[in-house]
Amino acid sequence: MWIAKTKTELRQNLARRAEKRVLVPTMGALHAGHTALINMARAHAGEDGEVLVSIFVNPIQFDKKDDLSNYPRPIEQDLALCESHGADGVFLPDPSEMYAADRSITVMETSLSQHLCGAARHGHFDGVCTVVLKLFLLSGCDAAVFGEKDFQQLAIIRRLVRDLDCPTEIIPHPTIREDDGLAMSSRNTRLLVTHRADAPRIYQALQEAAKHNAPDQILEAARAIITDSPYAKIDYLSLVRADDLMPAEDLRAPTILACAVFYGDIRLIDHIKIPAIRS
Ligand code: PAJ
Repeated sequence: MWIAKTKTELRQNLARRAEKRVLVPTMGALHAGHTALINMARAHAGEDGEVLVSIFVNPIQFDKKDDLSNYPRPIEQDLALCESHGADGVFLPDPSEMYAADRSITVMETSLSQHLCGAARHGHFDGVCTVVLKLFLLSGCDAAVFGEKDFQQLAIIRRLVRDLDCPTEIIPHPTIREDDGLAMSSRNTRLLVTHRADAPRIYQALQEAAKHNAPDQILEAARAIITDSPYAKIDYLSLVRADDLMPAEDLRAPTILACAVFYGDIRLIDHIKIPAIRS
């Protein structure tokens, strides 16, 4: 497996023309959610294809300096995981390699990013769009794999590809969960023991709530279960239309019940899809 730290090294390593090149963009601190994406990329690329993983803690998508500096960077472990899951190469740039000090162009998303996780994190999704477009251009990938765990990010990347005519196929991967249902995240290991034990209630609440037949009942049921915990604080809980992420008034089209919940200062996100079955 090759490792490229600069754009020039990346170009040199990519020079061997692969049948199909599949990119897995990450910020490292890889866990089983990420390695499932690498496995899926391998399956899509096939034997003659090329799987490229990018590991880059993208400074322009962080709104808090502390979050950026505290982001875990277990690079040796990450590289070993990439290799054992069949990546052909890893792109590992420094921020100065990706961003000129006087950079002045940003990709802006002005609709899907305005609520849910975007409401409290101004500029976050613009930072994501900008780095993802750069990674698509630098790698010349034919396809890229993204996790459904970050469903708003996935929706925004699909919009990026549609609106800017990127020739990149977007491959979604279902959310990987711990045995007790908690969605895998690098943040889970930072939870206090009592909070970690309580956190599976988030997904249980979404599953229970999704059994109801009206938007207000769904939201009420989820809220009741989550707030029954002495530790959990809801950041947002919303039922949105699956296509444009706007608040859902009925269940005639597919919807997504999504939430962000704080345990102490750790913010966990999760969601569940609700098919359009009820009128
Ligand atoms: P990061 O948080 O490292 O996630 C990288 C990819 O892994 C994303 O597509 C994310 O949705 C997926 N992922 C994370 N946890 C998952 C889980 N439990 N199940 C399935 N997929 C999971 O998302 C980012 O990095 C960045 O915003 C990035 C797209 C790399 C741009 O900087």
